[in-house]
Amino acid sequence: MVRIHPSLLAADLTCLRESITMAEEAGASALQIDIMDGHFVPNLTFGPKTVEDIRKHTSLPLEVHLMVMDPLRWIKPFYKAGANSLIAHYEASPHLDKFIQQCQALDLLCGVALNPATSIAVVEKIVKNIDVLLLMGVNPGFHGQQMVSYLPEKVNNSKAWFKEMNPHLLVEVDGGVNETNAPSLIQEGADILILGASFYLNPKRNEFVKHLFQLSST
Ligand code: DX5
Repeated sequence: MVRIHPSLLAADLTCLRESITMAEEAGASALQIDIMDGHFVPNLTFGPKTVEDIRKHTSLPLEVHLMVMDPLRWIKPFYKAGANSLIAHYEASPHLDKFIQQCQALDLLCGVALNPATSIAVVEKIVKNIDVLLLMGVNPGFHGQQMVSYLPEKVNNSKAWFKEMNPHLLVEVDGGVNETNAPSLIQEGADILILGASFYLNPKRNEFVKHLFQLSST
């Protein structure tokens, strides 16, 4: 069954505890926390202190999506803050293998994120050592954007190419996932869907998530 990770970026940040409860009540498998540094992406968001405070109020796994230059610098601070998994962008680091090794040394789940235009071929050498391949549906920086049209095909290619090399790899789609495109993403084999606006700005969020669970269990 598909896993749902609501992205707190799209939540009302003055009501973080309620936003966490919404995710728990909808049956989310984890919470995604988007870390942006204003350099790798044109926006600024949260730091380790926010993750630390969120950690105190939920037992949900915390997936920290590092949209930052030099992700290695942030492994320890977010590990100490209580992150369960760290995802770094291929485009942000020449040292991805080192990033993976350092996450594994701390027993953190780890993943690599690819912007829409980046080919999945770039992870061929490391795909067997990661837990999650995050395929961005949008150019990162903001919630509520439109997904690129070629994302379902990228999911299909990733599942086909990497299933032998890493049968446990989870392919995740982040950015622009909504009621219109989610069925095709599930059909192509997406394991995890990140929901920002389509969850937190959707009064019928619970029905939407339930529908996704039903779609993926048929
Ligand atoms: C973009 C962010 C968003 C967010 C999801 O940089 O990473 O993708 O997590 O927000 P929606 O689902 O509204 O695109």
